[in-house]
Amino acid sequence: MVMVKVVINGMEVEARDGETILGLARRFGIEIPTLCYYEGFSNGSCRVCVVEVNGRLMPSCITRVSEGMKIETESPRAREARLTILKLLLKNHVHRSREERDRCVLCGYAVRYGLEQAPIISDERLDDTHPAIVFNPSACVMCRKCVIACTMDQNNDIIAVIGRGSGTRIGFDLDVPMGKSDCVSCGACVDACPTGALMEKDWAPADKVVETTCPYCGTGCTVEYGVKDGRVVWARGGYGPANEGKLCIKGKFGFHYINSPERLTKPLVRKPGVPKGPLNDRDIHEVFMEVSWDEALNIVASRIKEIISKYGPASIGGIMSDRSTNESLYAFQKFMRCAIGSDNIDQSATLCHEPSAWSLATQLGFGAATNPIRDILNARTILVVGSNINETHPVIASYVKRAAKQGSHLVVVNPMHTELARYAEYEINLRPGTDVVLFSAMAKYILDMGWYDEDFIGKFTEGFEEWRRSLEPFTLDFAERVTGVPADIIRQVARLYALEKPSMILWTLGITEHENGTENVSSLINLALLTGNVGKPGSGLMPLRGQNNVQGGADMGCAPGRLPGYQPITDAEVRRRFEELWRCKLPSFVGFRSTEMIEMARRGLIKAMIIV
Ligand code: SF4
Ligand code: SF4
Ligand code: FES
Repeated sequence: MVMVKVVINGMEVEARDGETILGLARRFGIEIPTLCYYEGFSNGSCRVCVVEVNGRLMPSCITRVSEGMKIETESPRAREARLTILKLLLKNHVHRSREERDRCVLCGYAVRYGLEQAPIISDERLDDTHPAIVFNPSACVMCRKCVIACTMDQNNDIIAVIGRGSGTRIGFDLDVPMGKSDCVSCGACVDACPTGALMEKDWAPADKVVETTCPYCGTGCTVEYGVKDGRVVWARGGYGPANEGKLCIKGKFGFHYINSPERLTKPLVRKPGVPKGPLNDRDIHEVFMEVSWDEALNIVASRIKEIISKYGPASIGGIMSDRSTNESLYAFQKFMRCAIGSDNIDQSATLCHEPSAWSLATQLGFGAATNPIRDILNARTILVVGSNINETHPVIASYVKRAAKQGSHLVVVNPMHTELARYAEYEINLRPGTDVVLFSAMAKYILDMGWYDEDFIGKFTEGFEEWRRSLEPFTLDFAERVTGVPADIIRQVARLYALEKPSMILWTLGITEHENGTENVSSLINLALLTGNVGKPGSGLMPLRGQNNVQGGADMGCAPGRLPGYQPITDAEVRRRFEELWRCKLPSFVGFRSTEMIEMARRGLIKAMIIV
């Protein structure tokens, strides 16, 4: 990294060549006020961050450092210029409520710089047509952060600047009320807006902010919850590596279940004589009674002991949610194997993406995605297969859409039309269940054209000639007949994938939850290996997982036959090491999967299940 010498507030420091003055100042703990600054994107519309550089006034968030700069962040000229800008911004700035003003960064600066805060006046232009967001145009200072959030970061393309001159304003779609637009309620504009002009309808100030991981899909977004009196009152995107501040509708607005009065807070035990069955309309307290933790644990422990002594440990099964932490998952599988003595332990990884985990582990050595999410932006060609990621993984979709907008080739392969296809160069609506034929035909065509990566194949693969021979039947004509995809399209997409590198493949359950799910995934892995599209930035294989810790569930050994780190329970040496470590006797058989446990319960072989 090239470093340059600059002086900031009289301090001589080394700066990274190309970093902004704002970035440098923040690294050295110097605060510069900002309003329109949006991490990762260039904006520079408000000028609140003005500083003096070698006698000239410059916006610090978009000015890059260079050798010999003398920067003054609080010189009289910089302060005066900032004050003038703040006064101008405050001139046409009106809030509708105290809550809105309380979260306004501009009004916060007004207080700090000894200026009058904006008045609170109700406004008939208020747009409250959206179910979760309210837009107050009177509080808007046209900083354009919402436009960046919506069109460049989330790539939902709903918000735009419309009008001209003094009539310039923020609008939605073709200038319709927000609630009538195609807004997908990701809330990015709300999180970005520094004035509260765009705000959650039910926002309330919080006492503290807690950072955690979003409880929904496998993207693993960092989320910050505002908490007041022990209740979550709002959510916003945290700056984690998977989401860089973004959330989707689920993470942003789907947190109210946390405060639900229906959540269980005390152990419940079925009342004597009440038969098992659905609750229907009955109140839960008609069926269960509250007991203390000691009572509940004693009842469960004695019943489990009784069942084990009568039917053996294999009559007990355990299923844990993949929305649990690694620590809980690890502890649960250890409990099932050590305390109960049963390997009937499972979570959802063995259902949804098991074909992905299995094929990736078999062919690449580890059953996980090969790249960080942000690396999607480095791919020249992206294949999205069997997925509706705009709905299932909207934050990942935002990276795919951004890459496509920046010029990457996007190919969407799915029997049904999905929204993502709007950004695609090719939308391939193949016949359901014909994926292997399509990808094998692509592989054969790449081989026939000599577009494969011989060096990569020689160094990192085995069984190549045998596999090559197995592809003989997969001619383009055959593939067209079976898949319904014109041969010419298969040709063009194969060319893109093989030659417009680096290429990346993303997939979800559209190809894994099939009888031939493993073969589907394997045919994608083969394509990547054939063209050397693994192990380099922008190339790779990305199964997109359903629950936020489904990967952790598998890694921690919450799966039949697999101890932590995918170590086989059937291997006597592996068992010996774990037994020594855990000081217990482990089962040596492979237990049932969750689906098998249900069937075994139906047959009377599983007598009790612990579901966490
Ligand atoms: S909520 Fe999301 S999609 Fe809707 S306008 Fe805001 S940024 Fe755009
Ligand atoms: S709505 Fe908020 S983020 Fe958008 S331009 Fe106005 S002040 Fe800026
Ligand atoms: S924060 Fe730098 S120009 Fe607005």
